[in-house]
This record gives sequence, C-alpha cells and structure tokens, in this order.
Amino acid sequence: MDSFIIEGGRPLCGTISVSGSKNAALPILMASIAVDGDVEYTNVPDLRDIRTTASLLDLLGRRTRFEDGRVVVENGEMGIEAPYELVRTMRASVLCLGPLLARMGEAKVSLPGGCAIGARPVDLHLRAMEKMGAVFDLEHGYIHGRCPDGLHGANIRFDFPTVGGTENVLMAACLAEGETVMENVAREPEIVDLARFLNSCGACIEGEGTTKIRVQGVKKLHGTTYPIMADRIEAGTWLVAAGVTGGDLFVKGCPAEDMSAVLDKLREAGMELDVLPDGVRARVGSAGLRCVDISTRPHPGFPTDMQAPFMVLLCCAEGSGLISENIFENRFMHVQELVRMGADIHVSGASAMVRGGTKLAGAPVMASDLRAGAAMILAGLAAEGETRVQRIYHVDRGYERIVEKLSGVGAVIRRVKDED
Ligand code: EPZ
Repeated sequence: MDSFIIEGGRPLCGTISVSGSKNAALPILMASIAVDGDVEYTNVPDLRDIRTTASLLDLLGRRTRFEDGRVVVENGEMGIEAPYELVRTMRASVLCLGPLLARMGEAKVSLPGGCAIGARPVDLHLRAMEKMGAVFDLEHGYIHGRCPDGLHGANIRFDFPTVGGTENVLMAACLAEGETVMENVAREPEIVDLARFLNSCGACIEGEGTTKIRVQGVKKLHGTTYPIMADRIEAGTWLVAAGVTGGDLFVKGCPAEDMSAVLDKLREAGMELDVLPDGVRARVGSAGLRCVDISTRPHPGFPTDMQAPFMVLLCCAEGSGLISENIFENRFMHVQELVRMGADIHVSGASAMVRGGTKLAGAPVMASDLRAGAAMILAGLAAEGETRVQRIYHVDRGYERIVEKLSGVGAVIRRVKDED
C-alpha cells in the first residue's frame, strides 16, 4: 500500500484546477447501461472508482475505452450480473441496478455491504423500484431483481432524500411504461447532471434539483456525447487548503453556483473568497480564521462530504465550533487521527466539539475513508513538520493527480511505497 509524506507549514499559492465530479461521473457512466447506443463522456476524472466502473461495464458487455480524458462506452450484448469481487471495492456499483432492470428486465447485483462511514443500506432503492413492478430476492449476498412485465410508472415518496436511491429510480423510470412522480428526492447537483445526461439521450425528465421529479417513460435512449460537471467537493477541499496553510489559491473551475452552503461557511469562518467567472480565489481575511458551527444536511445544506475537510479548518481557527453529522452514523473516524496531531476535539454521539487555536504537529496517521483521507492531507499541509498519511488508496478514489496538483501550488508532498 502507498502513503503520502508531507512537509507542512508552507502557504499554498497559485492556481489549482478542479477535475470532473466523481459523484456525477459514477451514476452517469452507469446510466449508459440503459442507453441503446455508444456514449462518449468528456471531463471524466481518472480515478480508481471510475476505473472500477469501467471494469463493471466491460463485464456487463459494454466495452469501455479511456482516451485522454474522454471515456467511450460502446453498445453491445449485455449480461445482468455485478459480481461481489467488484461491488465490494465500490459500493456505488449498486447504481447499475436501476438501469439493468430498465433495459434488461433483470439484475443480479452483490449487496454492497457497509463501509467505514456507516451501514449504508439500499432499502429505499429497493422499496421504490418494487412500486414500479420490480421483484427482489436477497440470496447468497446478492440482490436478484426481476421485472418480467417490465417496469411501470409509479408515485414514489422517499422517506429520506437518498442520493443513490434517487439516481437508481431516475434511471429506472426513464424506460418504464408511463409516468413516474418522485417526491422528497435528493437535490444534489449530481442528480441534476444525471438528469441532464439522460435527457440528452432522449429521456423525458423535469423537476431535477427540486424535491419533486416527474419522468415520462420512453421506449429507448439513444447515444450522446456528454461533459461531466466539476467536482464541488474537490473544489471545497482546495478552498480549505488555502485557509489551513494561510495561502492564496485560485481554484480554477470551482462550481461556486453549486456550493453556496460551503462558501457561506468559509466566509463566516473568516475566509476571503472572490467568485470569478472561471473559478474562486481564496485566502484568509485580515481578521484571521474563527471557528463556526457546522450541521451537515442534504443539498442545498452543508454537504457531509465537506465535514472532515472543514474540521481541519476549525482546528486552525480561533474559538470553538460544533460539528453535527446528520447524514452518516459513523463519519468521525478522522477525529482520532487529528487528535494525534495535536487537535482538541471531543466527539459525543453525532456531534464533535472542536477547540481551535492549536498548532497541528506532523505525525504518522491513517486514512479511514475518502474524505477523512483528504482531511489528513489538509492537516499535514497545515502542520509543522512531517506527516505520513497511510492507506491513501482511499484518497485515490476521489482526488485525481493530487500530488501533481498540490505540488503545483507549493506543497511538499510525495507518494511512497509502504514497506511490505
Ligand atoms: C452519495 O452516497 C455519495 N456517493 C456520498 O459521497 C455522499 O456522502 C452521499 O451521497 C450523501 O451526499 C456517491 O455519489 C457515489 P445516500 P449515497 O443514499 O448515495 C441512508 C464521497 O465521499 N440510506 O444519500 O450512498 C444512508 O445510510 C461519498 O464521495 C438508507 O438508510 O448516499 C445514509 O445514512 C461518501 N437507505 C443516508 O441515507 C437507503 O436505501 C444518505 O445516503 C439509502 C440511504
């Protein structure tokens, strides 16, 4: 396994670019399963999870080619099974369920299992698609879904605005017979990007980005060429990097229009942000950083994926801030690692009290999941001395060319092989 070695205490200055969004690309690539034609994607980030998705598409009979930032998914005779060996490495594989049922009338997808941040069940996905005529059996760790008479439209209201559940049902509804009305859906920008992709293939979706989406089923979806939206979580990570290192970064391609909650909280914490046509300039204001309270919520609230990175900013700020994690039940794994670097943080249930003003000190730490790994890198950049971040395969899932990007703005960071 690889680690990052970081020499901290250097202000990051210059321009850092944002890649395409992992959390938009994954469902949009999966949606090609429902498309009767070749699909070409641009601005696709070259990440582990994207490569895993490509392997799954290949396995299902959709040959997938990477050509300098473009990804081409060819049409072809398809299978219906997503095997455990693959799904266990990427729980987002469950997003092939909806399009497979829509296109093939059957799907066998390994149950994704939990992950470091929580149990992450898919009950809301299954219950919604059952209303559309799907029948599911859970056998030997696999979800076996069938809809012998095809999927039909339904009125669906989610108990919780699940991102993945909204995506699975949206993809299923595109080819269902009749109209599907979905309420209490996720409103994340990645949902909007998925709907735009599907509409570019001939789907008939409206209301994406609101709490109610209406879908008129069509007979087939045709091929298209589609650009993946920018990654708002990567962008937010770089804005925080400017704050924790006392630098001055221009985050090129930062999708500010999708990040109001994050930008508002960064300004409240003392960051100066200039929103420009092609990105956002970020630096610490003259009054310095001060702690704020954070409460993670479904979009347009403060995103849970920014919780761990933002915690590092609070460690470097004056005062105290309370972070409430309302989306996942176990998303404070980064706290103990930050405490090892000198942070003063106390977790009680779904809340973490951060007492800022401590100078972080470099130490050997571990990434427990993707965003916790990003937080450890931010802490290493802020800390005095050397930080070794282990298990960075988590980080490689969601941050493209991270060593190159950070080195380009003055960070001293290198990837090393761990002794076997
Ligand atoms: C997506 O996960 C993202 N992943 C996550 O990003 C993100 O944190 C999350 O949405 C919330 O914004 C991708 O897009 C690939 P959910 P997803 O369904 O779809 C519960 C990252 O770091 N729930 O909205 O799994 C669930 O347990 C990753 O990039 C059910 O109980 O999120 C969780 O507590 C991490 N039953 C909450 O809802 C269900 O059937 C939110 O889950 C579905 C979800």
